[in-house]
Amino acid sequence: MTDTASRAATMDKIVALAKRRGFVYPGSDIYGGLANTWDFGPLGVELKNNIKRLWWQTFIHKRSDMVGLDAGILMNPRVWEASGHVVNFNDPLVDCKTCKSRFRADHLLEEKLGIENAATLSPDEMSKLLQEANLACPHCGNRTLTDARQFNMMFSTTIGPVSETGTPVYLRPETAQGIFVQYRNIIASSRVKLPFGVGQIGKAFRNEITPGNFVFRVLEFEQMEIEYFIKPGSGEPIFEDWVAAMWGWVNLLGLKPDHVRVREHDQAELSHYSDRTVDFEYLFPGSMGWKELYGLANRTDFDLRSHQASSGVDLTYFDQAENTRYLPHVIEPTFGVERSFLTVLVDEYDEEETVDVNGKADTRVVLRLAPRIAPYKAAILPLAKKPELTGVARDLFATVQDELGVLVDYDETANIGKRYRRQDEIGTPFCITVDFDTLEDGAVTVRDRDSMAQQRIGLVEVPGFLRDAIR
Ligand code: GAP
Repeated sequence: MTDTASRAATMDKIVALAKRRGFVYPGSDIYGGLANTWDFGPLGVELKNNIKRLWWQTFIHKRSDMVGLDAGILMNPRVWEASGHVVNFNDPLVDCKTCKSRFRADHLLEEKLGIENAATLSPDEMSKLLQEANLACPHCGNRTLTDARQFNMMFSTTIGPVSETGTPVYLRPETAQGIFVQYRNIIASSRVKLPFGVGQIGKAFRNEITPGNFVFRVLEFEQMEIEYFIKPGSGEPIFEDWVAAMWGWVNLLGLKPDHVRVREHDQAELSHYSDRTVDFEYLFPGSMGWKELYGLANRTDFDLRSHQASSGVDLTYFDQAENTRYLPHVIEPTFGVERSFLTVLVDEYDEEETVDVNGKADTRVVLRLAPRIAPYKAAILPLAKKPELTGVARDLFATVQDELGVLVDYDETANIGKRYRRQDEIGTPFCITVDFDTLEDGAVTVRDRDSMAQQRIGLVEVPGFLRDAIR
């Protein structure tokens, strides 16, 4: 197992690089921010979109047993009563009576008292442990923490011009329910047959209290979720197939396998809807350690059964082969976009001791992003800002964009060493330099981000070279 101390990345370095290079900015920055909210800048939105596109291609386009959906964020509030979220989607919280700060009781028990899996304890058990330890408020230091109480994590708002008479609705806390309530329409309008899955990418909202470790835990985030409908009793091998498919995704992102593990939930930890859950956990640097990256749950027929009972609409599936009707069971692989994003930044961040163009010791910061998700696939750099070079470089830039339809950077500022370093730091896999020899031999220098090795290839070969390299 990799030693966390030997990792180049720290969360502080990632946050600083993300802001400096335009990946992520603090939300509402000029007003002093808003806790746990972040905005994705020019490079951040590209990286995020590349992750989402890769996920959609992998799980929807490349599989004949999957279709997609884009459901609304606002839904009839009865959905959340039937799903169990109104009653069960709670966090145990304690307040400080002195400074009014709020904390997750299970996090306090884990972080301050070293109690493992504290989330599996009841609020009474948590309160007892907190009282016995007479814990001080982490914010003001006074020993005035309340008992733990359950606090619903759904955000609510009101439809209609007058809040008193309007309809209260929730911002969805998971995308999954949109799939369950449209499952009947999907069966009626497409040719899906069990087993089949419906995938969706979209925003979810949770009133998270604990500060979030950058974009790891935020109030507003995107989920990439699949509800995979199966015949009852066929769950175990299909669950294992999904474990393998999720490992395949981890590999596609380029994460180091020994930084990812699969952890089985014990009975007390299971969500209200789940019969079996495993978490894919990632080993974050420093004190963060192993944290949930993705989840895989066997939701049985919990959701379809609840929605059938609550709506009065028959949600059974007619199995033609067996001439029988039943409620399908559901295997749910779920992936957070922000956690994927953060994890690739942390995992691929590297620092290398090297020498600069003047021969002085220097540190090269390099993001070794898999080319398939890197914001820029290449940077095209004329060696000097001379019209004969910039003309060729701009033509090459246009050709690559036309033929590949991918994002490529063009940079004619600063010396070439500085330009290479800038591209290394934002994860651009290739720098393509147009120099004076190009005018003679029609070739360019391609520099590899990771090895810094350089090779010369013909101008006409560049689109094909990149097409192969960014798969
Ligand atoms: N439909 C099942 C479900 O929502 P979950 O484990 O609560 O399960 C799924 O959430 C995934 O969403 C997590 O594995 C994580 O990647 C992401 N996620 C959950 N809460 C988050 C938050 N507050 N901020 C960022 N990502 C979050």
